[in-house]
Amino acid sequence: MKSNLICLVAFVLFASFNNQPKTIKPGEIWPDNNGVLINAHGGGILFHEGKYYWFGEHKIEGKKGNQAWVGVHCYSSKNLTDWKDEGIALEVVKNNPESEITEGCVLERPKVIYNQKTGKFVMWFHLELKDQGYNAAKTGVAVSDKVTGPYTFLNAVNPNAGIWPLDYPDELKSKSFSDTLKGWSDEWKKAVKDGMFVHRDFKKGQMARDMTLFVDEDGTAYHIHASEENLTLHISELNDKYTGFTGKYIRVLPTGHNEAPAIFKHNGKYYMITSGCTGWDPNAARLLVSDSVMGNWEYIENPCFGDDKELTFHSQSTYILPVEGKKNAFIFMADRWKPENAIDGRYIWLPVKFNENGIPYLEWMDEWDPGIFDKM
Ligand code: DGJ
Repeated sequence: MKSNLICLVAFVLFASFNNQPKTIKPGEIWPDNNGVLINAHGGGILFHEGKYYWFGEHKIEGKKGNQAWVGVHCYSSKNLTDWKDEGIALEVVKNNPESEITEGCVLERPKVIYNQKTGKFVMWFHLELKDQGYNAAKTGVAVSDKVTGPYTFLNAVNPNAGIWPLDYPDELKSKSFSDTLKGWSDEWKKAVKDGMFVHRDFKKGQMARDMTLFVDEDGTAYHIHASEENLTLHISELNDKYTGFTGKYIRVLPTGHNEAPAIFKHNGKYYMITSGCTGWDPNAARLLVSDSVMGNWEYIENPCFGDDKELTFHSQSTYILPVEGKKNAFIFMADRWKPENAIDGRYIWLPVKFNENGIPYLEWMDEWDPGIFDKM
């Protein structure tokens, strides 16, 4: 009798535990299926054939900063809360200092998209060459036949060499710029707006640091990156295979000092959330809007509300995930960086909310259930 009662209590406890909604706890430790901390920083997510695949920078215990010693880690999930370790999708190259992705390079913010026409998965990332600080400002590309990899590194470039941005006025193409202008003086700002750094990098190709990818409904893919010494974002169209650039690109908010771009489309408008440039330290996020990807981007406001809104809740944007099958459901993904012990960087995921005018905004939540999107 007594043992039956114990069994019944155990069963009820077990059943009620299992019925608990699975939740996301921004900033808390987030273990994978093996109980190991998810290691996918500066990441992005691809939904493919019923599963989400999260790709991000793999960090090493005790190491500072952003040097890559392992590569890009991949995890999969059906419900956005439970993540299965799928291993290293792109490995840095060991024992070959000649390789551009040799171990110790800086490999940041990897993003993967799927090309319907070629059936290939295409990964792009920000690449800095080993021991060269942040000077190379390249973007690398790798491909795979399988979503989880292994991905094969193709090359790394400074985009759009020898090509002027779309709508760049003819009279500016022949302009010469003084190299003695004082940073942030009115003359210097005017020169940056007029394309001083586009000119400087015209031959070798433009700088590409923090980056993201976006595939529009017509299948055209875009590479969005911080360029011109992080002073101006560039949006560049990718070619049909998604492995190179078509040469069509625009400049967004010259002198705006935006990085960490994350983009999504809602009700016919394109929105981008970016950060300012303060290294690993958080700052206030910025919300931009445009009627087309290659259109006129305008600043709206800081999308964060409530405590710590000026620090984006102590984080920096990395990706905005459209929740599959839902119309108004997006997840803002950001990193709470820990430069002294990079592996301990935490993930800040918040649902994107929309105000009465349809403008997206973000509010802090200690814990939330992705089931909230089921009602949408
Ligand atoms: C901010 C960037 O967004 C990160 O990806 C990283 O490059 C740090 N700066 C390095 O300071």
